[in-house]
Amino acid sequence: MSDQIQISNLKKSFLRNGATQVVLEIPDLIINKNEFVSLVGASGCGKTTLLNILAGFIPFDSGSINFFGKSDLKPGSDRACVFQEDAVFPWMTVRENIGYGLTRKRINKIRKNEIITHYLNLVNLENEGGQYPKQLSGGMRKRVDLARAMANSPDTILMDEPFGALDYRTRKDLQERFIRILELEIKTVIFVTHDISEALYLSDRVIILSQSPGRVLSDIRVPFTKPRNRTICDTPEFISLRNKIETIISSNVNS
Ligand SMILES: Nc1ncnc2c1ncn2[C@@H]1O[C@H](COP(=O)(O)OP(=O)(O)OP(=O)(O)O)[C@@H](O)[C@H]1O
Ligand SMILES: [Mg+2]
Repeated sequence: MSDQIQISNLKKSFLRNGATQVVLEIPDLIINKNEFVSLVGASGCGKTTLLNILAGFIPFDSGSINFFGKSDLKPGSDRACVFQEDAVFPWMTVRENIGYGLTRKRINKIRKNEIITHYLNLVNLENEGGQYPKQLSGGMRKRVDLARAMANSPDTILMDEPFGALDYRTRKDLQERFIRILELEIKTVIFVTHDISEALYLSDRVIILSQSPGRVLSDIRVPFTKPRNRTICDTPEFISLRNKIETIISSNVNS
């Protein structure tokens, strides 16, 4: 089994008003196992499209993707998705939501309950297991969403602006919790965000996509050692790298 996601000569276009619009053109991109990679870039540059391709939700036109040794990308439990909108079922309790993906696996009831309790504890919702999503705050629902994604034991988590709808404080809280969760159970994470500080604070690499078509404009290795502390966000090195990334993105925006 390969320890990498290898994208080669990937091309994806959409038909728009009768014309073909090339959205992604990525000759060569490698993501290593257990790497945390953020995808950033102007609105419409193809971040969600790339994530949807990797999730197996949409096909691509040409090229190849070798996903840890697999070339068939149909959706599977090896990949979990977390979006801006919570993927929680309103009619299920928190415990039922977290255990939902396990129902399709051959796991006995006792083991299933242990797994649910483990992930409930991991997101500190041990007292909310019997509650319904509408009884929870947005931040708590997002924690259920994270626990649901983790409970299925994916190798990779694909995240599209997962904390984008949360207020500033809740967002920081979720970032912190997610970092701690990954310290306990490391995963490969591909994370789309518009928040460059968030990308830098969480990631090992930040990939900047260009607009029309989305190409890799810059691939930046984040130089800050892990585990990180939020104080790095105030250092000159962090601020200078954030400014550099923001400049690259804004100088690429089509006017
Ligand atoms: N199903 C579709 N049919 C036609 N065009 C599409 C479709 N999905 C996306 N596009 C187009 O592809 C381009 C990339 O869209 P995508 O949603 O991937 O961008 P994005 O980088 O995620 O943007 P944002 O930051 O705003 O979420 C856009 O021009 C969009 O209009
Ligand atoms: Mg998007």
